[in-house]
Amino acid sequence: MTPHTQVFISQKAIQNRVAELGRAISAAYPPNRPLILIGVLRGALYFLSDLSRSISHPLVIDLISVSSYEGTNSTGKVTFHQKTSTHIANKDVLLIEDIVDTGRTINTLLQHFQKQNPRSIKICTLLNKPSRREVSVPIHYCGFRIPDQFVVGYGLDYEQAYRNLPYIGLFNAP
Ligand code: IMP
Ligand code: MG
Repeated sequence: MTPHTQVFISQKAIQNRVAELGRAISAAYPPNRPLILIGVLRGALYFLSDLSRSISHPLVIDLISVSSYEGTNSTGKVTFHQKTSTHIANKDVLLIEDIVDTGRTINTLLQHFQKQNPRSIKICTLLNKPSRREVSVPIHYCGFRIPDQFVVGYGLDYEQAYRNLPYIGLFNAP
């Protein structure tokens, strides 16, 4: 606990759910075809790290860095900071996000990667806030659906702080 957070999803609950997602993903993809996980920085850092180790297939991991938030508000504009270098044409791609909120970030990324002609592209998000959606996006794997509340920890930040909390906490602005 910190002065501005209270535990919302415990470390244990996250671990159990990530293991379940890993099993579901392992069962859904053929083991003999390369799977590319693309993590969306910085929020998906810990989720990608834990999820990738719970998938039993050989994997390629790449990272993309984008931002759209200022404080606790989405600006609606997605800025690219760092792009991937893996060739994804004819490959299975799984985008790994921390949270789908308005849907703008993941929708922009989906369009960005679809131009590179992957064999398949699916979305795996740790958290989903469906009540905030502005752009409709398909979500293939989701850890937890949450109400419209700002959360931090396990990768998620408030102005770059709190990412390293081992749990997901409800954030009360100071
Ligand atoms: P979207 O483009 O509105 O779907 O926003 C997605 C991005 O906003 C996520 O990848 C997060 O970085 C950030 N975000 C949205 N909701 C929260 C939250 O509750 N806590 C921390 N970051 C959030
Ligand atoms: Mg993010």
